[in-house]
Amino acid sequence: MRIRQPLLVAALAAAALAATPAVATASDVRGTDAPDRSAHSVLSTQPSLRILAQRSGLKVGTAVNMDLYGSDAAYTRIVDQQFSTVTPENVMKWQLVEPTQGTYDWAAADRLVAAARDNQQLVRGHTLVWHSQLPSWLSTDGTTTTFTPQQVRDLLHKHVVDEVSHFRGQIWQWDVVNEAFNDDGTPRQDIFYKAYQALGMNGLDYIADAFRWAHQADPHALLFYNDYNLEFTGAKSNAVYAFVQQLQAAGVPIAGVGFQGHLDTQYGFPDLQNNLQRFAALGLKVALTEVDVRTFVQPDPAKPGSYTDVPLTPALQATQESYWKQTLQACLAVRSCISYTVWGVADSNSWIPGVFAGEGAALLFDDNLQPKPQYQDLRQVLWTTRAPHRG
Ligand code: XIL
Repeated sequence: MRIRQPLLVAALAAAALAATPAVATASDVRGTDAPDRSAHSVLSTQPSLRILAQRSGLKVGTAVNMDLYGSDAAYTRIVDQQFSTVTPENVMKWQLVEPTQGTYDWAAADRLVAAARDNQQLVRGHTLVWHSQLPSWLSTDGTTTTFTPQQVRDLLHKHVVDEVSHFRGQIWQWDVVNEAFNDDGTPRQDIFYKAYQALGMNGLDYIADAFRWAHQADPHALLFYNDYNLEFTGAKSNAVYAFVQQLQAAGVPIAGVGFQGHLDTQYGFPDLQNNLQRFAALGLKVALTEVDVRTFVQPDPAKPGSYTDVPLTPALQATQESYWKQTLQACLAVRSCISYTVWGVADSNSWIPGVFAGEGAALLFDDNLQPKPQYQDLRQVLWTTRAPHRG
């Protein structure tokens, strides 16, 4: 049952926070050597992230892996209980929805949207236009294609209209365009940029097109530009900041900017709140869309070349916890920050170990789907922070 009255929520939360240690360690909550994946006593007796976040009106979300959702009971329970918004980790990407040209496969994405409706969760659609995870019939590397520039534009139009229309009325926020800029602030030279240039337009005009087409197909969805490293003040964040103002000036229906929030303890904590604030000051919504905090982890002695989900040192664990708290505090402090989404449930299903060698432990639940101190940190922040209410 979803509890709606704020007072009841507050009372429940107060009782539960008083009854349990403010910050439980992973071993506290695990209790025994053999992890109990069925009972989830801590999770079922403490108010969830989604309940605690109701005080500020913030939606708290997770990326969902549809290979696990519905088949792994413990994973599914966490998704359903803890979060008020869900993002498909992969199943709405072009490669997954149109693996063969002209033949759509919406099955997995439809399953997520239906589950979200059952659980009173909002859906972040991710993502319509991205250089990566394109279907191989279109491009295998994101920068080359056998199609002509005009064909690329026509294919993009069809893709955006068909996908947004399929989910019309069921998507809260769409990541319309993902990662269009390089870290040095220059536009990424992907197949879309190059096609538009070859057609005699500004290469970035594909972005305005995609937003306009998406808006026509679903006028109620909030349309987002989404990227990484916007958290840091620098060439990329400045370029996107200037670019979204051009979109606004041209009347392009952009509603928000998504800050992915893939943080790493080795790079320092970014100037996040100021960057959220300056985009919000443009009249845009902002959101943290893919938060994880990776660090270096201990090698697995049993499997050479593999790693555990344990940070190399206690200091790195402490730094991770500090980063988690600061990301949520930054979002809570900015009234236009409407959602805070973590990129996956457990370390065992995070994308990080596969991409960043020797790093991991990036999420809120460990390899056995037990809550980590980071999870309790976020609960604590939600409960103790006086945040402006967002509608
Ligand atoms: C990642 C997924 O987590 C992986 O499962 C997949 O293999 C590759 O993509 N930025 C994004 C996300 O916008 O879509 C990416 O997700 C992570 C980086």
